[in-house]
Amino acid sequence: MTKKLFIPGPVDVAPEVFTAMTQPMIGHRMKEYAELHRRVTTNLKRVMQTGQRVFLSTSSAFGAMEGAVRNLVKGRCANFCNGAFSDKWHEVTRRCGKEADAVKVPWGQPITAELVAETLATGNYDSVTMIHNETSTGVLSPLPEIATVLKNYPDVVFIVDTVSSMSAMPIAVDELGIDCCIFGVQKAFALPPGLAVFSASEKAIERARTVEHRGYYFDFLEFVANDDKDNTPSTPCISLIYGLDCQLQRFFSEGLEARWARHRSMAEHTRNWVQERGFELFAPEGARSVTLTSVENSRGVDLAAIKNRLGEQGYAFDDGYGTIKGKTFRIAHMGDMQQAQLDEFLAVLDGEL
Ligand SMILES: Cc1ncc(COP(=O)(O)O)c(C=O)c1O
Repeated sequence: MTKKLFIPGPVDVAPEVFTAMTQPMIGHRMKEYAELHRRVTTNLKRVMQTGQRVFLSTSSAFGAMEGAVRNLVKGRCANFCNGAFSDKWHEVTRRCGKEADAVKVPWGQPITAELVAETLATGNYDSVTMIHNETSTGVLSPLPEIATVLKNYPDVVFIVDTVSSMSAMPIAVDELGIDCCIFGVQKAFALPPGLAVFSASEKAIERARTVEHRGYYFDFLEFVANDDKDNTPSTPCISLIYGLDCQLQRFFSEGLEARWARHRSMAEHTRNWVQERGFELFAPEGARSVTLTSVENSRGVDLAAIKNRLGEQGYAFDDGYGTIKGKTFRIAHMGDMQQAQLDEFLAVLDGEL
């Protein structure tokens, strides 16, 4: 049975986007591809509020996240960790042979500017990774405050995962001073999985020039050389890029500010719904995601049973991630989801509760 997706990615994809993906194939070294590539990267820069180079990576987000640490960590990296994906990024950094420390806060808590300031004051680090919106816990860390701290450290490369936040809220990459901003397209962008996007500042590119063993597939300098020709180092997922081209037009038709407001409003609605049902919100006030709501299972309901029953009715429900599975559940309201769809899901969930 096809299920409506209320999980935090992948999410439902609009029929127009699927149709755009069925356009006839072109060669990636043909001028038609260069035109498509330029249009898409130009429009992505508008969404990301950046004049930096923006690259298309035929991989899921973790491909570009691995590429970022491989290219940008020269000395020692501080991996800020507050959930499953940030913990994994630390593991990936170490597996790439880099020196790195996991700077951890408990799952459910945000990374704070104070913690970043304290960590960088040690003088031990030339690079930082953090996840803006930890999808495993529904926690949004205060990126603007953290970015202000980073501005005191011009030699530190600032690498940020915006996998489940980019396009759902304003993220001004240049103003924030993010050197490498990464996201996959199957969450807030509401495309099928298989494509990641990342930006690189001049500082990041200069750093990559001095780092050895960057490999090939995610070598930032290969991306730069190909970007000069509106192209990619390897054959890209052209069908997905057609879909992204269409989706970016849909973003602009809705209006970016309207898109941000829609997510804010659905998040507020969901938080109220949760509290009215006698559950606690997992993330503290001020650090709650706008694309998913993570709920503490304070009523001790049988989440696995609810997931099964919702599945039988055609709804995909998430009963928590990793070590907090069963103790929390997540309601996603990301991508192109509209209030009416969320209402439909919450009504069904109400029935099961
Ligand atoms: C915040 C965040 N970062 C990274 C990832 C990993 O993305 P992928 O599985 O597409 O590599 C996810 C996936 O859920 C995520 O939510």
